[in-house]
Amino acid sequence: MTLPVRKETLTLHNLRAMGADGPAFFLDTAQRLGPDFRVGLGPITLTVLSSPATLQQVLQKQAKVWGRGSAIDGVRPLLGNGLPMSDPPLWLTQRRTMQPAFHRSHAPVWADVVREATTPTLEALTPGERVETKRLMMRITRDVIVRAMFSQSLGADPRPIDEAFEVVEDFIATIAVNPLSLPLWVPTPLHRRFQAASAFLHARMQALIDERRAQAAPPMDLLTMLLKATDPDTGTGMTDAQLRDELMNIFFAGHETTANLLTWTVALLPRHPAVLARLRAEVDAAVGVRAITADDVPKLSYAAATLREVLRLAPPAWMFVRQALEDTELAGQPAPKGTTVTISPYATHHLASNWAEPDAFRPERFLDETSIDAAAWKYRYLPFGAGPHVCIGNHFALLEATVVLALLLQRFEWTLLDEGPLEPKIGATLSVKGGVPVTFTRRR
Ligand code: HEM
Repeated sequence: MTLPVRKETLTLHNLRAMGADGPAFFLDTAQRLGPDFRVGLGPITLTVLSSPATLQQVLQKQAKVWGRGSAIDGVRPLLGNGLPMSDPPLWLTQRRTMQPAFHRSHAPVWADVVREATTPTLEALTPGERVETKRLMMRITRDVIVRAMFSQSLGADPRPIDEAFEVVEDFIATIAVNPLSLPLWVPTPLHRRFQAASAFLHARMQALIDERRAQAAPPMDLLTMLLKATDPDTGTGMTDAQLRDELMNIFFAGHETTANLLTWTVALLPRHPAVLARLRAEVDAAVGVRAITADDVPKLSYAAATLREVLRLAPPAWMFVRQALEDTELAGQPAPKGTTVTISPYATHHLASNWAEPDAFRPERFLDETSIDAAAWKYRYLPFGAGPHVCIGNHFALLEATVVLALLLQRFEWTLLDEGPLEPKIGATLSVKGGVPVTFTRRR
């Protein structure tokens, strides 16, 4: 068996179509040719995988062969050798060292962090004022991750940090949609800005590490846990450079993804009033007007199902890549060392061969099966990836999204200012095309 091929001529139009409409392009091709295929665009060939069996092969059974390699070197100046960027042996040491800091037993602390970081932003919303949901959710998830990592807010003047993040996010969004990106050493204005922003953020992370090392009674947050963390086999901790890379990666992996999950949720709920009503009733019964804590989260099973369904319809990590670290084979064909494959959870989640009525929004699908592990779903569902590289922050992300959603439902009703069709927009992660403008009004 060989992989079917879709051939396209290399034109600006096709390049844009593949870039700007990547998820739809992959899904459409998967529907026409089968879930695993090659697409040739002039000199570029992409191998796209979305069948559960191939995903299991690449992500789990042959995880040692299919790694990161040089496939994501474009962002290495920013993200260095952090967990999402590395292969064994470094990856294995780091994963073992860091895993305990992300264990779900930290849920009580995480829930308090999320509530405390989110409440002031929600309290500051002016009823009736137009709000762009993605901007609001980015503010909230950024505050949450900064507080979870460093026990502090972005500081008195967060603007330089905000600006650096915006440059970096722009750069990642640009290279994510352009298969023909120039190498970073080409001194384009965007590249120069990206390098300056990366250097600024590295220096800021290092300063936070230095301050923390000097503290006599450090707070018990992610930074302290990672500073103290050691490889269970060797007892060795991380160097400052490695720690800085990990902090950068946790920051970037851990806030825009969750912001998009929440933005899609805000956009979908008013379009599905029965789901919204059931959610509100659940939050009112379980939490009422009290401050939500981790003890409430298990009672919010419909909220959990809703968030899982949003992650199915609009997986923030709509694609990610693997590279063959040695000569191997794929779908019966040789795959020489260096072969890069694109994994498309978006296509996997939308194929009728995997899900009945795949485009329908039905949280009930997830009421009985609450696992988020791709293995339990036989590789039909992988918003957090699968196999050994599965998202280390998945429990944190789901708890965070549940608490933010509950806080919103407790306090507000919202009205969509644009009720047109919801379409995905790609960048570093999957957001909503045209944004989600809303107005909020207070419930109580
Ligand atoms: C809805 C939110 C999130 C989504 C959809 C998401 C998605 C993913 C996916 C698909 C992967 C696997 C990528 C691959 O296999 O190449 C991943 C890995 C990772 N994620 Fe997340 N993530 C989310 C939230 C978070 C949060 C909150 C954190 C940290 C606090 C985080 C940290 C990481 C890290 C460090 C990795 C690399 C794991 C490894 O390679 O061992 N993520 N995430």
